[in-house]
Amino acid sequence: MKLAVAGRVVRLAWSKRSGAAIGARLRIEARSQQQLRFQSTVVQQTPIIEHSSEAPSLEIDGKSHAIDDWTNVPPSIFSFLPRKLHLQPSHPVSITRQVIERSFPSPTYTHYNDLHPIVTVAQNFDSLGFPQDHPGRSRTDTYYINKDTVLRTHTSAHEADIFRDNKSEGYTISADVYRRDAIDRSHYPVFHQMEGSRMWDRRKVPGGDIAKAVWADLERLPKHNLEVEDPNPTIHPERNPLQAEHHSFGEVEATAAHLKRSLEGMVVELFSRAQKAAIAAGNTNADVMEPLKVRWVEAYFPFTSPSYELEVFWQGDWLEILGCGVTKQELLIDAGVPDQLGWAFGVGLERVAMLLFSIPDIRLFWSKDPRFLSQFSTMENINTFVPFSRHPACYKDVSFWLRSSSSSAGGGLKANAQDFHENDVMEVVRDIGGDLVEDVKLTDKFTHPVSGRKSLCYRINYRSLERTLRNEEANELHDSVKGRLVEELGVELR
Ligand code: DAH
Repeated sequence: MKLAVAGRVVRLAWSKRSGAAIGARLRIEARSQQQLRFQSTVVQQTPIIEHSSEAPSLEIDGKSHAIDDWTNVPPSIFSFLPRKLHLQPSHPVSITRQVIERSFPSPTYTHYNDLHPIVTVAQNFDSLGFPQDHPGRSRTDTYYINKDTVLRTHTSAHEADIFRDNKSEGYTISADVYRRDAIDRSHYPVFHQMEGSRMWDRRKVPGGDIAKAVWADLERLPKHNLEVEDPNPTIHPERNPLQAEHHSFGEVEATAAHLKRSLEGMVVELFSRAQKAAIAAGNTNADVMEPLKVRWVEAYFPFTSPSYELEVFWQGDWLEILGCGVTKQELLIDAGVPDQLGWAFGVGLERVAMLLFSIPDIRLFWSKDPRFLSQFSTMENINTFVPFSRHPACYKDVSFWLRSSSSSAGGGLKANAQDFHENDVMEVVRDIGGDLVEDVKLTDKFTHPVSGRKSLCYRINYRSLERTLRNEEANELHDSVKGRLVEELGVELR
């Protein structure tokens, strides 16, 4: 990526270090003593690189972060920080947030909607009990600012801090989260989540009886007649255990029941609005009129036990929309609130918004095209998205050999076959093509019978959501992709 800075052009590139298993390194080639400054309160500002006497660093929202071997955030990602789609009044992500917040009313729940996306590794992983070798920590999956600092990968990163703050019995946190991931119509490197939690304090509930207090609170929740499948027991000794040193079965049974009823209520609140809107618009086809169906499945998260996921039956498929569970007591003890017990959940807002508004491609959420934005108004008025047009796709293939581990050609800075991770290809394509790429798929894999070298072929589907992409334009993008794959991943084009 080239950045024009006060008349100078400074090149930022990615390189792989030989022997380093995964991850990439920010290399500032033109000068060694620079600062990359970025102010995320101004929409779409380009990062600024400045001379400084300090070591290379990134300045983001007035805070300076050192750059090191772990740094792997491409500058293009920083342009997402100021967007805050969950706070744009008529944006479908924001409408979804507002509807969900209604199920978690204040003052029981405090709504946190403006927590900064740069967090420490301790907040994002350690505080939640992620083991050191958890794949989520890897540089192929997570954007590192430096070895101790990341762009949060989930809103759970703030759980411990908010438990420590202990302002109210419950809270929700809505925010943008960042992950290195595949490119397709339901994945984007930035998306939004809402975290929610409800706690009961042993010292405050009548007679210290948490289970009784939770059941009483459950009675006060709105009833619903949603069709719910819940075939598994609340706990399972191996798959989904009780935290036996901390909780009684009765406490967990009550907490899990309150958790499930609260989230089922949330789903009803969301989808009854969608249904009403569709009927009002004269859409009475089978999909809309069929009663909504949800099911609970067992899950695993490092910071809850037992854990569950909620799936919604939508247009013939079961779709996972959230993860949740009974909060690990260690987390609460470490946060200085050992007498509390309760539940937490995390829901993907785009996932829900795509269902709610029938939005077919996750890139649309980032569109500034009035033909998209003008279709949404308020949470009282949920409407089905009307596609404004579908422009032709233009797919192009790229085939390459991975560097064999014994090969020494081309210098030692490139990844060999063992180091290769598909997300690195995705990152290059995303950095060059941005929202002009609809999806990237592996279409062929081949190992040479004699040399043992491995070859891969990816098909990149270029398509603009807003206009017809010219073939020459797609060719130019594709040539840049090929060049960068060679330069940064050390592959050999076929
Ligand atoms: N943070 C999880 C994710 O991103 C979702 C989640 C699961 C949040 C369980 C929670 C929870 O609070 O209790 O996949």
